[in-house]
Amino acid sequence: MQGLIQHPNMNQSDQPSQARPSPQGPVEFRDHCPPEFLRELLPDPGIGAFSRYAPQAAARQLAALVKVAALPRSRVLVAHCGGRLVAYLTFHPPEADSRWASLPPGQILELGGIEVARGLRGLGLASQLMRRAFSSPDFDATIVYAEALTWCWDLEGSILGMAGYRHMMLRLFGAHGFEPSITDEPNIRYDRGNLLLVRLGPRAPAALVAQFQATLIQKDDES
Ligand SMILES: CC(C)(COP(=O)(O)OP(=O)(O)OC[C@H]1O[C@@H](n2cnc3c(N)ncnc32)[C@H](O)[C@@H]1OP(=O)(O)O)[C@@H](O)C(=O)NCCC(=O)NCCS
Repeated sequence: MQGLIQHPNMNQSDQPSQARPSPQGPVEFRDHCPPEFLRELLPDPGIGAFSRYAPQAAARQLAALVKVAALPRSRVLVAHCGGRLVAYLTFHPPEADSRWASLPPGQILELGGIEVARGLRGLGLASQLMRRAFSSPDFDATIVYAEALTWCWDLEGSILGMAGYRHMMLRLFGAHGFEPSITDEPNIRYDRGNLLLVRLGPRAPAALVAQFQATLIQKDDES
């Protein structure tokens, strides 16, 4: 799209991708999106899983992406159809009250959200975003985790059912080196379907991995 802002610090990999065809027109991917780029987008109404598709859910989600993109060490990837946001993937440091916030800054990141607009699912957009994020060496020395919580799964918009949806999560994340981890972290423990998915970067220092593993079960601290 012509009018979208080009950030002065963008490197080669952040340039617009070659557009990919879809039933709703060509889809373009963009990595390392700065806030000013995201502010130029319009939200697709099929976005909003994290607000249960309430009115304004899509606009709220886009505003949240702008905030994430402004955080230090964050990364936002999007797919858009002519400036209409149809998918995103975000990474950010652990929240301050998270047990993983105690790990060295920059060496641990949360994959905070992945979503594809309802009308464009099953076309490989989520897989493409994940591929773009993990094909660079950016996360090689890092631990990335995702809290896959059933409350934000779009079970109503899917025919998969809980077990099938969970399996889809395992496939989507598993294809990029994530494995489910056992933890007593309260958000994960809240629902039996929830998953903590963890990717240990191939060059993550052994001491970091050991420190992370020691945080997984804390028994008395947060129960
Ligand atoms: C989860 C979500 C991002 C997947 O997006 P998508 O673009 O439809 O996913 P893809 O087309 O890239 O498919 C990813 C994998 O799931 C599988 N999959 C996707 N839709 C499927 C379906 N309806 N039935 C079975 N498998 C399916 C694909 O086969 C693929 O696996 P494979 O590469 O091993 O074949 C999308 O459903 C979504 O936005 N859901 C709402 C938000 C959400 O649940 N986010 C995750 C929170 S933890």
